[in-house]
Amino acid sequence: QQVEPFDYVIFGATGDLTMRKLLPAFYNRMRSGQVPDEARIIGTARTALDREEFVDRVREALVRFLPKEVRDPSLIERFLMRVDYVTLDGTKSGSDWDGLAAVLSTAPPERIRVYYFATAPQLYGAICENLHAKHLITPFSRVVLEKPIGTDSATAEAINNGVGQYFPENHIFRIDHYLGKETVQNVIGLRFANPIIEAVWSSDFIESVQITAAETVGVEGRAAYYNTSGALRDMIQNHLLQVLGLVAMEQPESLAADNVRNAKLAVLNALRPITGDAVRTETVRAQYTEGMVGGKPAPGYLEELGEPSNTETYALLRAFIDTPRWKNVPFYLRTAKRSAEKVSEVVITFKTAPTHMFSTPPIANCLVIRIQPHEGVELHLNVKNPATDAFTLKESVLNAEFEMGGGLPFPDSYERLLLDAVRGDPVLFIRRDEVEAAWKWIEPVLDAWSENKSPMETYSAGSYGPSKATTLLAENGHHWHENM
Ligand code: BG6
Repeated sequence: QQVEPFDYVIFGATGDLTMRKLLPAFYNRMRSGQVPDEARIIGTARTALDREEFVDRVREALVRFLPKEVRDPSLIERFLMRVDYVTLDGTKSGSDWDGLAAVLSTAPPERIRVYYFATAPQLYGAICENLHAKHLITPFSRVVLEKPIGTDSATAEAINNGVGQYFPENHIFRIDHYLGKETVQNVIGLRFANPIIEAVWSSDFIESVQITAAETVGVEGRAAYYNTSGALRDMIQNHLLQVLGLVAMEQPESLAADNVRNAKLAVLNALRPITGDAVRTETVRAQYTEGMVGGKPAPGYLEELGEPSNTETYALLRAFIDTPRWKNVPFYLRTAKRSAEKVSEVVITFKTAPTHMFSTPPIANCLVIRIQPHEGVELHLNVKNPATDAFTLKESVLNAEFEMGGGLPFPDSYERLLLDAVRGDPVLFIRRDEVEAAWKWIEPVLDAWSENKSPMETYSAGSYGPSKATTLLAENGHHWHENM
């Protein structure tokens, strides 16, 4: 369904995120007929470019980043007609703003305007101040904030205050692209539309939960950012805690944004703090050393960086949610760069059948929610092994692949989210109090790690992680799901 005409103004338009993710996402939505002809995408950045030069860059990016099934030269040219560029340093209050004001003034005043901040988060407040001073915030304006919202509670508060001074909370869209992933949203469908699943969704039946987001890539060209962030801030504070919220929340009253956000927030607030000695026993941090990834030699993190560093590229936390539903169920949250596989998934392991009837012990049932790649759900069951007359068991897997149909790739998570901001639907964006609760929970771990209160482990690039990650699960009699 087509959205209303909009002007999307991207700050940081020459950057990697815009080129790799945002522009291809807009193109795909135009291709599927959701972007009206009047819509405009106005890039801004400090780099002095004229429109033609920017359009050339966008064309190049689309050719490079769009899958070939959807690349259509004439559609690309049509798309480029909607693209404009204004050279502008958003943090300075100079006359550059007149250029942006002039472009925006050609649209009717009630045109939906989305300001997308794909710049360094500490600049968000200053950009908002200038938008306000230049009278560019209309009642139909909203703002999308890229992560990271701060590096701790205090900096997050400063950013939220800076933006909140000029935009009301319901016009602020804090993006977490994991919430735009189909299978992440499907956690809600899977749980609350299937009584056979929700009926066993508690500590009575569930033994443990693993939430993993692992990547084969290293820090690529982002070392400057990544080295000040690390795996815990980069992935767990936001993406993994959001997934945890959906997996563990109570059923919201409805799918209205505040109901879903309240339910996720309640989970974050019920996380047992990891403080003092617990940081040593409940967390693992590690850096990759040289190894082989996909059959090719890969350097270690410190070699890539060329300097010593205390930044983790792997993080694992054993979390507990102190509610009756989740009493004593460990949630293992883990993320890794330069891992053996690229995989994001949730693995729910159930308690083992309390029986000694069979000559082979039954496996624990497990439900795997595959976020990527191969979006789908697997249920691991025990069945009688037909190869023997004796009553032995074997594992059998029910596999539901989610398919788009027509051989098309799954839409990128940004596609949906970019247009949700135009629609004004914040359900898949993070509310301010969620960001704050997430920082509050991980902050003691960040602090203890920065004071080296838990050792920095190592793992070879291309492996599944440090050996301590295996030991930590073994303490509870658990092990990592076999595919990871
Ligand atoms: C980003 C992180 O938020 O998510 C990156 O900053 C990471 O470091 C990326 O690579 C992973 O996203 P996805 O969708 O590929 O799992």
